[in-house]
Parts: sequence; C-alpha cells; structure tokens
Amino acid sequence: MSTPETITAPATPRTAQHRRYLMCRPEHFTVSYTINPWMQPALPTDTEKAVAQWQQLYDLYLELGHEVELIEPLAGYPDMVYTANGGFVIDGRAYVPKFRFTERAGEAPAFADWFRANGYETVEPEEVNEGEGDFLLVGDTILAGTGFRSTDDSHREVGAVFGREVISLNLTDPRFYHLDTALTVLDPVEGVHNGGPERANIAYLPGAFDDASRAILEDRFPDAILVSDEDGSVFGLNSASDGRNVIISPRATGFEQQLRDRGYNPIMVDLSELLLGGGGIKCCTLELRAK
Ligand code: ARG
Repeated sequence: MSTPETITAPATPRTAQHRRYLMCRPEHFTVSYTINPWMQPALPTDTEKAVAQWQQLYDLYLELGHEVELIEPLAGYPDMVYTANGGFVIDGRAYVPKFRFTERAGEAPAFADWFRANGYETVEPEEVNEGEGDFLLVGDTILAGTGFRSTDDSHREVGAVFGREVISLNLTDPRFYHLDTALTVLDPVEGVHNGGPERANIAYLPGAFDDASRAILEDRFPDAILVSDEDGSVFGLNSASDGRNVIISPRATGFEQQLRDRGYNPIMVDLSELLLGGGGIKCCTLELRAK
C-alpha cells in the first residue's frame, strides 16, 4: 500500500499536517440507483470487498497519525460511505447538506445528528448543497463547484455561514459532477518549501471546467498541478492530502509522478469497488476542522 520514498526526489520532503476525518464503513454499500454516470445498477457489487478496500484507507489514515471518527452506516443508504457529502466543517461549525436527489436525502439528518452529538455548531441549509463534495477550503477561500449538484445559491449561503470568500467554479463534464472529482487541495495553507515561501496549492483537471472557471484557476493558482484526462478519468483527483502524503488511486500514474516531482509523497489506495458508485478516496473522507 505505501510506497518507499525516492531518494532521488528533486524536491525536499514536505511537512505533514494533522487531520481529523469523519468516515462511514460501507456495510450497506451497493449500487441500486443511478444519480451519476458511474453508477450502473445492473453491474454486480461486492459489499465485503468495498469494506475491505475502505478499511485500507481507514488504517492508512491512522498509520499516518490522523484521527478518524466514524458515523454509523444506515441501512437503505448505500451512498452514505461518501461522507464528504455529509457536510462542510470549519472552525467547529458544520453546514449540513441538502442533497440534490431524494435517494440520499435521508442521510442529511443522520449527519446533522452526528455533528450535534459531537459538539459541533450545526447550521441547517436552505439551499441544495452536497458538502465537501462541492466545497473545498484553500487558505481562507472556499472553492465551490456547481453545475450538477450544489447550486449557485448554496455558494452564497456557504459564504455567509462561514464569513469567507467563495470562488464559484462551473463543472461541465457529467463524470466529474462534484468539485472533489476534478480538483484536489494539496496544501490548504501557505508554507515554506525548498527554502522559499510557497502558496497554498491545488491540482485539477482543466477539462472538467468551463473556460471562465479555468481562467480563474489559472489566475489564482499559477503553480497548480494540471492533471491529464487519463489520470482524471480514473478519479485521480479524488484524493486526500495532509500537505505531504497524498493518497491517490493506483491508476493515476502520471499524477503520482507529478506529485513526486514536487516533493509530495503519493500513497496508492485502490477503492475500485467504491468507484462503482462514482466515489473514491476523497468522497469517503470528510474533514472535521476544529475551532
Ligand atoms: N453515488 C454518490 C452520489 O452520486 C457518490 C458521491 C461521491 N462523493 C463525492 N464527494 N464526490 O452522490
């Protein structure tokens, strides 16, 4: 699962930051409806395999020194494993999702209950939004995706809830229906690397966005890693980073090399079974940012 570090890496290693995550064991995982182009109910799914693959990710987070909280999986909600959609959490405040499709609507109260029970200030939404699937924090700015799931109105709402700048980005390819399938935050904060200052940084799939959004990304993140269509279409961008270790799909081999060249430590975890539901590493991971 983990890979040895290359001694020939041109960049010095980066520093890992501690993370706290919320995950949900996929005990009820299957594909019984279609709400994204990856989901084909006619194809067989293997729940045990999904659990085993998920466990690898869970174990790895602990091995890396992160904390992982668990929410109880609900029968009848096969997509609940994708906890990224369960909310968006900054400063101990949780903005609850309002799912686009009725199939997932019942997950929202379960996540809201979990937040309340665990001491988070909980904000109920008025607008349709799918949590960290479409909202990603970089520095003090929220990058917000729209086009398929979360609405423009939710971008306004999330900005008001957290008092932060929101940059709206339009997704155009139905395969990349959530922002976290097309863009990953490598470093949420500014830091020092190779002796010099470095800004917060991201990686993204240019082809998943419209021209205007691409222009914004180019302008705001001139040092971003641009990922190939090949790596994007195996969900390479649906990854989790602690600023040093970046957990990615083993199929995203080009992205793996790009990360190494920049001094990150890519670690491959295969969630092929969960990809049948249209989700990957990041989808199974919700960041819990404390006060
Ligand atoms: N089947 C789920 C859905 O379509 C997958 C969600 C993936 N989550 C994510 N954060 N991209 O809603």
